Amino acid sequence: SVLRRSSTASASSLLRRGYSSESHPERKVAVLGAAGGIGQPLALLMKLNPLVSNLALYDIAGTPGVATDVSHVNTRSEVAGYMGEEQLGQALEGSDVVIIPAGVPRKPGMTRDDLFNINAGIVKSLCTAIAKYCPNALVNMISNPVNSTVPIAAEVFKKAGTYDEKKLFGVTTLDVVRAKTFFAGKAKVSVADVNIPVVGGHAGITILPLFSQATPKANFSDEDIQALTKRTQDGGTEVVEAKAGKGSATLSMAYAGAIFADACLKGLNGVPDVIECSFVQSSITELSFFASKVKLGKNGVEEVLGLGPLSDYEKQGLEALMPELKSSIEKGIEFANKS
Ligand code: NAI
Repeated sequence: SVLRRSSTASASSLLRRGYSSESHPERKVAVLGAAGGIGQPLALLMKLNPLVSNLALYDIAGTPGVATDVSHVNTRSEVAGYMGEEQLGQALEGSDVVIIPAGVPRKPGMTRDDLFNINAGIVKSLCTAIAKYCPNALVNMISNPVNSTVPIAAEVFKKAGTYDEKKLFGVTTLDVVRAKTFFAGKAKVSVADVNIPVVGGHAGITILPLFSQATPKANFSDEDIQALTKRTQDGGTEVVEAKAGKGSATLSMAYAGAIFADACLKGLNGVPDVIECSFVQSSITELSFFASKVKLGKNGVEEVLGLGPLSDYEKQGLEALMPELKSSIEKGIEFANKS
């Protein structure tokens, strides 16, 4: 049965940050895959977000426990758990933002593309339900390989007649989070002040951090920049190896997913100048999807921002990533249309 637990109306003073949660509009957020390694901490972080009024936690198993647990946190949102396909429609209905961390994670030795066969099918069926129950929601795709799952989602929505390219996002925020952390550590500057765009896609060499545009400026050698770039590209693998068979990034991914969903909610609420990098339908290169800085607004994507000036090293990286990204996009489109 569907679990509903209402939380107390008053958020803690820490979370209120000087304004009352009652001044924010009602916003429903659904997390699909909410009982997983990413889903659980992401559910908690979304419960802490005062912009959320309703939090729907969906998974094929385990959501009653997660939802009951999270619902006891005394913040604004009402939490409900939904389990099994017959409850997916209810979970989605009325959602403003749907976050998808459903699927299998990598094990050591696997690439994100190795996940394709299982996760492509999961994403396809979840997006079919989104088209039916909440066609206007902003979709935040976390399930890998993002370079292919986002094109799959687009094709599913096109077939259903609900596709709006302004409302589909591949979540690449973890690449930005990693680039900022690694850069700040090496430059010995306060990480809170650091900004770095990460463009391209979300796998290996398709992840292209633009350290030449980093702020604050740092005087790094070419070798330093190459090492930082490689560490950002291999950040996921670093975690997969450290977890030694027990999955991939979950806690840092939940953080990154919460940051991106918060940016989407702020955009919906009309907060000006909300900018995050994301893998979206794009015309800034010849590829139909590309990650770059995106301005978020009341309808989702307000503007896809260009790449800005690139260093020679970044220009080479851009050229090198295009064939792989192109084939990952095509693989997703083919999958969606053949099955
Ligand atoms: P996990 O295995 O711990 O959790 C996945 C959850 O999805 C499980 O609870 C499972 O029951 C659920 N699930 C499976 N099929 C489902 C369906 N049809 N409907 C709803 N839920 C379903 O995996 P984890 O570590 O949470 O990773 C999830 C995904 O996120 C993986 O594809 C992983 O590669 C991806 N990921 C993406 C990152 C990014 O930067 N975009 C970073 C890290 C992981």
